[in-house]
Amino acid sequence: MAERNVHSMGIFGKKSLLCLFIITSILFMGSWFFVLHSAYRPNLVDLSFSPNSKLLAIAEQTLTENIEEGIGADKHSCSKTLKVFMYDLPPQFHFGLLGWKPEGNSVWPDIRAKVPSYPGGLNVQHSVEYWLTLDLLASELAGDLSGRSAVRVRNSSEADVVFVPFFSSICMNRFSRLKRLQKVDANVLLQEKLVTFLTAQEEWKRSMGKDHIILAHHPNSLLDARNKLWPAMFILSDFGRYPPSIANVEKDVIAPYKHIVGSYVNDTSEFDSRPILLFFQGAIYRKDGGFVRQELFYMLKNEKDVHFAFGNIQKEGIKQATQGMHTSKFCLNIAGDTPSSNRLFDAIASHCVPVIISDEIELPYEDVLDYSDFCVFVRTSDALKENFLLNMIRGIGKEEWTRMWSRIKEVEPLFEYRYPSRGNDAVQMVWQAIARKVPAVKLKIHRNWRYYRTPVSLDHSASPRLPSNFW
Ligand SMILES: *[C@@H]1O[C@H](CO)[C@@H](O)[C@H](O)[C@H]1NC(C)=O
Ligand SMILES: *[C@@H]1O[C@H](CO)[C@@H](O)[C@H](O)[C@H]1NC(C)=O
Repeated sequence: MAERNVHSMGIFGKKSLLCLFIITSILFMGSWFFVLHSAYRPNLVDLSFSPNSKLLAIAEQTLTENIEEGIGADKHSCSKTLKVFMYDLPPQFHFGLLGWKPEGNSVWPDIRAKVPSYPGGLNVQHSVEYWLTLDLLASELAGDLSGRSAVRVRNSSEADVVFVPFFSSICMNRFSRLKRLQKVDANVLLQEKLVTFLTAQEEWKRSMGKDHIILAHHPNSLLDARNKLWPAMFILSDFGRYPPSIANVEKDVIAPYKHIVGSYVNDTSEFDSRPILLFFQGAIYRKDGGFVRQELFYMLKNEKDVHFAFGNIQKEGIKQATQGMHTSKFCLNIAGDTPSSNRLFDAIASHCVPVIISDEIELPYEDVLDYSDFCVFVRTSDALKENFLLNMIRGIGKEEWTRMWSRIKEVEPLFEYRYPSRGNDAVQMVWQAIARKVPAVKLKIHRNWRYYRTPVSLDHSASPRLPSNFW
């Protein structure tokens, strides 16, 4: 018996081997067909083979419509307004950091009377925290909600997201030095208080923080609390100083820097009236990752139409940078000690076509905005090849440059922070970027609840069974 079994299994084995061989061959040929097919259409996921192709096509169309709507300046937006619940954190977390003193028990300034100002100089670049908060306060006073992407709601159960009004960037800039007799600085202390406060809130527990919006635009802001508050959606400048588990492009939102160089109003310049080919302003020697700047400097310093201006933009530097960027065709953005910098947004405000050499850079609203329309991207490895960069830039003629310059003038308002906010300026664009994350956030929250919430209507005595490590 045993022998026969072995024998028949042998025959069966041979048959199935043959069968396996045929199937594998078919699969192999099939995959080659796919590879060849997609090689000729490098930008498309092969929609024609997908049973959901119709759905995808609709999704694509909707996205395109949204883009057109988002970019077209005056078209009214018919998308749903984001409902935002904002914690009434004590003033020491927000306007108090700007020197505002509350009257009585008020938590928020009366912005109808006076809007507290944000500190100037380099602080301004990370001021997204201030503009978004002001816009939420203003949304309650506005009679007309048209053109508004977000509105404050007082009942957190009705909110899409929960906004944490902590001005972490200005806190980091101004209060991260130890004062006499202090053991921990105010920046660290406030972050500890914030974590304690947040993790005790019903709103936080409900979603484990996933629907919370936390601002940390300065790369060093929220340095301590980020490791505890990471389930939240962060508003950042890039991911340079974050491990991917704490912050990533799927969960978080990239917001523009506020430009420091003034806008180029009534720009009538042309290709030929901008004498400098390529302009760079900044520190040449940086701590980490900035070796590219140094290499490029040595490569380009003898080119007579390339201009390197040293040092960071400060007082006198702003004038010099403005002058330089207004009279240059292209402006270099090279990774420094972080992948992003306000230089890109200064270039856009100056209508100087950005040349971006920063492999890890993340760009605001890139899901609806195609930066290759108005920026030149160069891989670091290419930029370091002899003559590569200059050949490439000199290869961009008047016509192409003018097309990019015109596009910059069109998209420039999308990067403008202001109060009151209007149209699709940076404030509204950031709200819209947050709104586009909401469905994914809701999906995650609902999935989390699958096994942890007992329907109350079925058993009133049962409380949700939560594992002890759930929060
Ligand atoms: C908040 O909204 C929820 C859901 O709409 C509602 O059940 C609740 O009564 C509201 N709370 C208050 C205080 O209005
Ligand atoms: C720009 O042009 C407009 C219209 O010609 C004019 O009113 C305005 O003063 C100009 N602005 C500047 C800063 O030159």
